[in-house]
Amino acid sequence: MKSNLLVVSNRGPFTIEGEMGNLKYRPAVSGLVSAVLPAVKKVGGIWLAWAGRLTEKTLEVQTVIKDDFNFVEVLLSREELKGYYEGYSNGVLWPLCHLMPEKVVLSEENYRIYKKVNQKFAQRAGTLLKPGTLLWIHDYHLALMPYFVRQKYSWQRIAFFWHIPFPPVEIFTIQPWAQEILRGLLGADLIGFHTEDYRENFLRSVERVLKIPVNYEWGTVYYNGREIRVKAVPIGIEPKNFQKDVPKIEEIEQDLRGQIIFLGVERLDYTKGLKEKILGFARFLEKNPEYLGKVILLQVAVPTRENIAAYRNYAKEVLEEVQKVNERFGHSSWQPIKILTRNYSQDELIYLYRRADTLIITSLEDGLNLVAKEFIASRQEPGVVILSNRTGVARQFGVALKVNPYSPEEIAGQIKTSLEMSLEEKEKMFAKLKEQVLLKNNEWWLDNFLGKELMLSVAPGKYYRKRGEKKIGAVD
Ligand code: F6P
Repeated sequence: MKSNLLVVSNRGPFTIEGEMGNLKYRPAVSGLVSAVLPAVKKVGGIWLAWAGRLTEKTLEVQTVIKDDFNFVEVLLSREELKGYYEGYSNGVLWPLCHLMPEKVVLSEENYRIYKKVNQKFAQRAGTLLKPGTLLWIHDYHLALMPYFVRQKYSWQRIAFFWHIPFPPVEIFTIQPWAQEILRGLLGADLIGFHTEDYRENFLRSVERVLKIPVNYEWGTVYYNGREIRVKAVPIGIEPKNFQKDVPKIEEIEQDLRGQIIFLGVERLDYTKGLKEKILGFARFLEKNPEYLGKVILLQVAVPTRENIAAYRNYAKEVLEEVQKVNERFGHSSWQPIKILTRNYSQDELIYLYRRADTLIITSLEDGLNLVAKEFIASRQEPGVVILSNRTGVARQFGVALKVNPYSPEEIAGQIKTSLEMSLEEKEKMFAKLKEQVLLKNNEWWLDNFLGKELMLSVAPGKYYRKRGEKKIGAVD
């Protein structure tokens, strides 16, 4: 183990399945893992997370020793999963932060369980802290954890990264627990968001709700005798993880042959604007019948959070829309939309990213969207990106073709534009996007968000930065 870093998140780098003696570790594919895993591999340490197992099924808590870091599992009971993950995290914070208050289901009981589970993670983390450990907590599932750790270990260095949007104060305070959540987060010393807008929304909430003066320019909050720094640093990926050779996915080739491919890769989440994408694609076909039979929307739609009614209903509605469009425009040998509703491994996704011509993202609200970065990093050939202007990454991908996801006309228009672009225009756009992805990579993110904090947490002589060198070096 190279460093003294303790990472904590709800989901970890893999899920654990099977019984004792025959456990299987399945790699998790998610934005958070794409970004945090390379960082943890680089600097080492411990990753504490839930691995998908319930206490009813097993009593054994696993510690898995990986080559470059250790993984420690937190088990949850069915009741905890329901109240903490499905109830408050994904039934209140998720829709509020994505500006969809109509999806919020408030419940005192769920919030009580959320608190209890945050306390549980804090207690478990406490047993793993050593002098000099940097505790790095991730995402909205664990907003109260910094407070609980601070209560018991007042000297502890704590960093927190919030991976989803942070909403305007008027929306955040629809829930009656806004004060406690903000105080929870202020238990950290350093808090990170993807964009300046989210950072500003958070600072305004602290100022208005807690009546604490904040410095917007410096991003500082003075609270309980501590200085808390609040930064905006968008996550970067590790490009080389997407540059490897990968096998072909034979089973989809038959439907793709000869087609211009518009690719979408999303969880079946109501924030992702899948219905809007389908409407926009249908509008394009309606206005441009010369493209019938020549283009396809290949949509990976990964089932997610299926115990929550809003998600189940959404998945059903999306599939109905696909069917309607296929019935309206398709025939026996051509269907305009192919929807793939299973989990895809990183290798399979890389294959799809390379196989497509254009990536199309129409999220209604999206913290960053790493799929856009992965698509660019995977390819040598220029590919076009059509991007919702309501994603965090839209601020970084200035040259992408932007759309308002609520406008089928705009989506249809940009689909047409992408088809009419010259190779030279595509190459120019792609080169600019690639430059962003390579420059603002995972190391850049780690360095800019955590840099100094990390140096303090690594054993002397193990971590250094050479004079004038921009890179982080973790050397044994
Ligand atoms: O940040 C968004 C997030 O909750 C991440 O933690 C995770 O990458 C993704 O959404 C998937 O969500 P879930 O863990 O609920 O399947």
